[in-house]
Amino acid sequence: MTSKLLLIFAALYSKLVAGVDFYVATDGSDSNAGTSAGAAFQTLPKAQQAVRQVTKGMTENITVHVGPGIYTLSTPLKFSADDSGQGGFTVAWVGQNALISGGRKVTGWTAGSNGVYSASVPSGVKSRNLYINGQASNYARRKINRKDFSYTSTSMKWTSGSYDWLTSTAGIADAEVRFINSFADRYAPIKAAANRELVMEQNTWFNQNWGYDTISKPNADFGVWVQNALALLTEGGQFYLDSGAGKVYYKPLSGEKIESVDAYLGILETLVVLGGSYDNPVHDISFEGLSFAHTTWLQPNSIGYIDQQTGGNICENKTYDTSNFESTRPNWCQMPSAIQISAAKNIFFSGGNYTQLGAGGIGIGNDANAHITGVGLGATNVAVRDGYFSQVMGNSITAGGIRADAHHPSDNRMINSRLEISGNIFRNVSSLFSSTVPILATYIQNSLISHNDIYIAPYSGICIGYGWGSNDAGGSSEYVNRGLYKYQPQYTTPTVMQNNRIEGNLIHAYGLSHTDLGAIYTLSKSPSTYITQNYAFDSNVGFGVYTDEGSNSYIIQNNILLSSGSWYARNGVNTANNTITGNFGKSGPSMSGNTIVSDISKVSADAKKAADRAGVLPERRGNRPVSNPK
Ligand SMILES: *[C@@H]1O[C@H](CO)[C@@H](O)[C@H](O)[C@H]1NC(C)=O
Ligand SMILES: *[C@@H]1O[C@H](CO)[C@@H](O)[C@H](O)[C@H]1NC(C)=O
Ligand SMILES: *[C@@H]1O[C@H](CO)[C@@H](O)[C@H](O)[C@H]1NC(C)=O
Ligand SMILES: *[C@@H]1O[C@H](CO)[C@@H](O)[C@H](O)[C@H]1NC(C)=O
Ligand SMILES: *[C@@H]1O[C@H](CO)[C@@H](O)[C@H](O)[C@H]1NC(C)=O
Repeated sequence: MTSKLLLIFAALYSKLVAGVDFYVATDGSDSNAGTSAGAAFQTLPKAQQAVRQVTKGMTENITVHVGPGIYTLSTPLKFSADDSGQGGFTVAWVGQNALISGGRKVTGWTAGSNGVYSASVPSGVKSRNLYINGQASNYARRKINRKDFSYTSTSMKWTSGSYDWLTSTAGIADAEVRFINSFADRYAPIKAAANRELVMEQNTWFNQNWGYDTISKPNADFGVWVQNALALLTEGGQFYLDSGAGKVYYKPLSGEKIESVDAYLGILETLVVLGGSYDNPVHDISFEGLSFAHTTWLQPNSIGYIDQQTGGNICENKTYDTSNFESTRPNWCQMPSAIQISAAKNIFFSGGNYTQLGAGGIGIGNDANAHITGVGLGATNVAVRDGYFSQVMGNSITAGGIRADAHHPSDNRMINSRLEISGNIFRNVSSLFSSTVPILATYIQNSLISHNDIYIAPYSGICIGYGWGSNDAGGSSEYVNRGLYKYQPQYTTPTVMQNNRIEGNLIHAYGLSHTDLGAIYTLSKSPSTYITQNYAFDSNVGFGVYTDEGSNSYIIQNNILLSSGSWYARNGVNTANNTITGNFGKSGPSMSGNTIVSDISKVSADAKKAADRAGVLPERRGNRPVSNPK
């Protein structure tokens, strides 16, 4: 063959194998063709436009190569059917050390008094999140003692002169109070302070004070802080944003040098949206090795955060039927995520870092209120694999919704099915909304949650199910008594939740700031759902597997549950028809078919093998600090 022919064959071959390629680089230009590394686009929206031109009738995969560096978005990247792979081919967005940021870098710090530094940002910029060297700063805040206050329907009052500083704190009328309870983490905005009374914003204060684990009657008390006023900025690691004046204030941690901090304000609430309609879903798109960072969530500024459980919150500024808290339950919202996937099929995220996110990380098929497209649910064949999650303030991954269409869909295309969350690392997440979790999966089916590493988590590790059994066929006697069915149907048919596998996960150092939790926590009926070969340890109060209200028909087998908290716990009515065998526990009940051991060396050879293989493959942990891995 002549060398010319060889070249032609080589070109043809590379076209067959590689498909259509686009390139994006931070030093590229949007006036380039974008079709070679040397003529890369500069922005992701430009690459998205180019892809859209060629998806129709595509006959090979399209790959967008995103080069190293930070790509700052001014609006969320929204993908719909037009951006989707056609004819069975895929559009792959592939990153090489590329970070998609929703933030604003903060530089030019100047020293003020008491070790506090400030930097200018455009006035009017809003954010509830400052990230320093990849970690969330806390709000400027001062601790108070819950028991030193009395709680009325409009205010919190004190009698001791030792709290009179509250009245004279500048900016107190724009500040808030945070309460960490047993399973709830509540944020309540302040309206005014005078006469030994903090008058609180309504209707959020009213809604904070009914239901369960409330401000005045918490099931447990893990602290109360008055926060988010400049005058309260006294400790290292705290910040305050004066939006009107366009100034960020931060006091470095001891040992931290302000000249060298990497500081970002989270500005966008949403980074990437994959959302179609049920008729025309988004599909066949993958994201490989891309990282995501720097978001915020502003809702707590206006109506606070009226936490009910794992991101479910009362989100409307009204009082419902004031005679019964149950009137709120069918109307809760979900905390939104930075990446939102709904009305979607064949969507794959692999690798990459998900860090410094101010609310949830990835929301898959959540209720409509948690998707900026306004179309929720409907996720089929969606996977998140091999990612690294850290410093995500809400649930790192929320799969499924909590409202009526999530458990009893009015359209079958709303069902969330064939979701996979596997091989991910979750390390030190949920610090600002400490009652959220690494993985919440609600009403989903035919799904897999496997071989994830989960550690340094304030509440549960993995939560499965929602609804406390109240939406299961026949309802729940508990919720008959509470009066829920005055406000929603008592269903006669089962929810869509079934046939899921939670297996081989490694969960340790969990339950650090709450109680009433488990390494794996379940709610409601989920037939043919297997919880197997998970290895949990190193929690003082956290249970191993916790089947809470209505948990029914789970198969809980061959888990190794060696925390100090009971290896198994159950609570509430209809917690029945669960198969619990072959598990090893350290403390807690003796149950036939299960074994109590003093430590890991005493479990069976098979269980030891499962424990060794739990979580990600060891090489994936790399040099990330793993506290006490085995
Ligand atoms: C197209 O991409 C898919 C998904 O990554 C892959 O399975 C398939 O092999 C690719 N096809 C070709 C021709 O490269
Ligand atoms: C992802 O995190 C790892 C460390 O955990 C780091 O080495 C890598 O550079 C990060 N990638 C990006 C794109 O930020
Ligand atoms: C976890 O992250 C928070 C900030 O969000 C930080 O203050 C804390 O030190 C971290 N904990 C560990 C064990 O890394
Ligand atoms: C909520 O409603 C009350 C009146 O019921 C109003 O005073 C308040 O300003 C509203 N809050 C927000 C954030 O809209
Ligand atoms: C009991 O659980 C098993 C396993 O999940 C399930 O197949 C069966 O249908 C359940 N029985 C009832 C009566 O719910």
